[in-house]
Amino acid sequence: MDTSSVMITKQQIDEMVDRVAADINRDYGDRELAVIGILTGAFIFTADLVRKLKMPVNIDFMQVSSYIGTESTGILKIRKDLTIDVTGLDVLVVEDIVDTGRTLKMVREELLRRGAKSVKLCAAFDKPDRRTTDLVPDYCGIVIPDEFIVGYGLDLDGQFRNYEDIRIVR
Ligand code: IMP
Ligand code: MG
Repeated sequence: MDTSSVMITKQQIDEMVDRVAADINRDYGDRELAVIGILTGAFIFTADLVRKLKMPVNIDFMQVSSYIGTESTGILKIRKDLTIDVTGLDVLVVEDIVDTGRTLKMVREELLRRGAKSVKLCAAFDKPDRRTTDLVPDYCGIVIPDEFIVGYGLDLDGQFRNYEDIRIVR
């Protein structure tokens, strides 16, 4: 396995976080925001992003996986649930990367079902070429081509999350 090829540098990631945070600060002003990071991949992006947000934030995490059940409907499996009740809250879901879009689509449906006042989706990286759903993230860091990437929280079989930059797996 070769992870020597850098796709996105640490400096580019830092600039991306600044830009996304500025957009969120502009849109929400001083409205309180519930920030929900999707474990495990988004733990680093969430930690970087929330430190740039200026409104009061309530931070929580959930761990989910999605799969296609019979009748090809998506099923969301919640492995670790939230501790907060999102009823009536403005929620921002923070994810590492959007691929097919299934995970974020189902997380949004679940949070709206629980009574969140609003749900917006934020992803550090986006691979639109791989999309099988109509999901469009409200905030997107960097659009990338169809390559498997690791680093900045993203893994291959649990490894490489600690890289400071984004590498292509070959
Ligand atoms: P989706 O539901 O297909 O959009 O899947 C998103 C999830 O797939 C992410 O949370 C990642 O865990 C994983 N994933 C998709 N592409 C990559 C990648 O290039 N590197 C690491 N994980 C990825
Ligand atoms: Mg993930």
